[in-house]
Amino acid sequence: MDTLQVMQARLCVRAFLDKPVGDELIREILAAARWAPSGTNTQPWQVAVLRGDTKASLTQRLLARREQHIDPNPDYAYYPDTWVDPYRRRRIACGKALYTALGIARDDKDRQKIAWENNYRFFGAPVGLIFLIDKQLNQGSWMDLGMFIQNVMLAAKALGLDTCPQASLAEYPDEVRELLGLSSEVAVVCGMALGYADMSQAVNQFRQAREPVETFTRWYD
Ligand SMILES: Cc1cc2nc3c(=O)[nH]c(=O)nc-3n(C[C@H](O)[C@H](O)[C@H](O)COP(=O)(O)O)c2cc1C
Repeated sequence: MDTLQVMQARLCVRAFLDKPVGDELIREILAAARWAPSGTNTQPWQVAVLRGDTKASLTQRLLARREQHIDPNPDYAYYPDTWVDPYRRRRIACGKALYTALGIARDDKDRQKIAWENNYRFFGAPVGLIFLIDKQLNQGSWMDLGMFIQNVMLAAKALGLDTCPQASLAEYPDEVRELLGLSSEVAVVCGMALGYADMSQAVNQFRQAREPVETFTRWYD
């Protein structure tokens, strides 16, 4: 696949095969991703690669918090407090498309809860990535990190793997920091499931829509 094909082929995968991903392959993805641009080449990205027991422990910790009804306490606000259109409308359409693919009814809160908690299991992926950034850095560096994260997803796709970026894994950053032995000066930005897609699962057989170019582009002469 060429670059444009990889960009179009990347999508969120939420069911993975029980097939290991070797450390060398993970390293190759990260080595490619590090060529992302960053303001004054500050390269602000930090990544934790979770496999095996550590990944399982994080899953247990996050599920336990959820079970205890402890409110999420993320290091930053990903979303606005108040939703306005067109974002509100798109967000609703996104959830509807996902739950339709999963065969979950709009009022079936129990199954929606189970589906959400699957986030904490990295959707069954053998590798979980956690993206981190120094709290001293500012919005620009967060933008740089976003470019790095996109590079990870594209590199993975180009190498035959799939991903799902996950803000849900940043809901309880203290658990992440404690488990991984990180300082409180490190912000937990998001996680990512990484592995081989299970394409037999319906949840991987739909695509989220995109607006046409005209919707978000202003042309000037
Ligand atoms: C930073 C970030 C965080 C996300 N967090 C989650 C998440 O926690 N759980 C999830 O299922 N999808 C998550 N998504 C995936 C989005 O829902 C998805 O990208 C969007 O619906 C478009 O679908 P596509 O990526 O398959 O084209 C996240 C995406 C981004 C960029």
